[in-house]
Amino acid sequence: MSFTFQDFPAARNDLRADVLAGLAANPKAIPPKYFYDESGCRLFEAICAQPEYALCRTEQTLMAARLPDIATAIGEVDCLVEPGAGDCIKVRLLLDALHPTHLTVIDIAGGPLAAAAQAVSRDYPKLAVTALAMDFLSDLEAAAPWLPAGRRLVYYPGSSIGNFPPDAATALLARFRQLAGAAGQLLIGFDLKKDPQQLHAAYNDAAGITAAFNLNLLARLNRELGADFDLAGFRHYAFYNPVEGRIEMHLVSLAEQDVTVAGERFHFALGETLHTEHSYKFRCDEFGILASRAGWHLAGEWQQDGFAVQLYDSR
Ligand code: AVI
Repeated sequence: MSFTFQDFPAARNDLRADVLAGLAANPKAIPPKYFYDESGCRLFEAICAQPEYALCRTEQTLMAARLPDIATAIGEVDCLVEPGAGDCIKVRLLLDALHPTHLTVIDIAGGPLAAAAQAVSRDYPKLAVTALAMDFLSDLEAAAPWLPAGRRLVYYPGSSIGNFPPDAATALLARFRQLAGAAGQLLIGFDLKKDPQQLHAAYNDAAGITAAFNLNLLARLNRELGADFDLAGFRHYAFYNPVEGRIEMHLVSLAEQDVTVAGERFHFALGETLHTEHSYKFRCDEFGILASRAGWHLAGEWQQDGFAVQLYDSR
């Protein structure tokens, strides 16, 4: 039917400023959204194929198996919105089941998003597809004028919500509610608390793909900010913290060393950490509290092998 692409360069991330601020902080930290350059996206796909990291496969299996129930619980939808849609593969299952008239996909990587959304538009000729290239964390509200009136469903799969600390997760869920509007809904997938050894293994795969994904962040800074990180001088270190209910991912300095990034010098002590990611794991009731603080009301829940999908209404 129609395909629209809109670029929001002002709502793009600022790698240089964020990295310099993160390296000057104590403890040092870089936001996990910077994992996803081209090699980072490829490495994340490879993580999803590792035997230890079942999250993506389990969600796919759950969605395929329970789709009729999920679609019945959702009912009529005019517009499907997916923030962080990437390759637009996951949303196709919902398009087949819900037949909305409009799809809005949002992602920071404009080129790949445009190609993926155009492919969706070709395969679903009756659908109006809008692709918005923006960092939705900084400017989700700019997407609102691009959404048609009618009943909206925000789709946020893949346990991406787990990469935010609880207060930030609640704030993001509240912004999704604004975007969804008065009769809006949210369909969200998240990883559940489970055997800590199983969680530990998922972020320490035997093939070393998660380690390569973590270290690629330093390689990216070398490529894009003219940094001089010696990748052999840092160790991928990920563990489950049961008190906080999260995987913590770090890059630990194996020596005392200085690194130059974008012309500024930073010192790492032996054993000092650069924190790169939190991945929170939830019980369904815990997640329900986060969502209800954001104004959402639970309308459905499906679980399989340590993964959950929940449906929320904004009323
Ligand atoms: C994208 N996100 C939900 C993944 C996670 O499990 O937190 C990213 C990831 N980090 C290491 N492995 C996968």
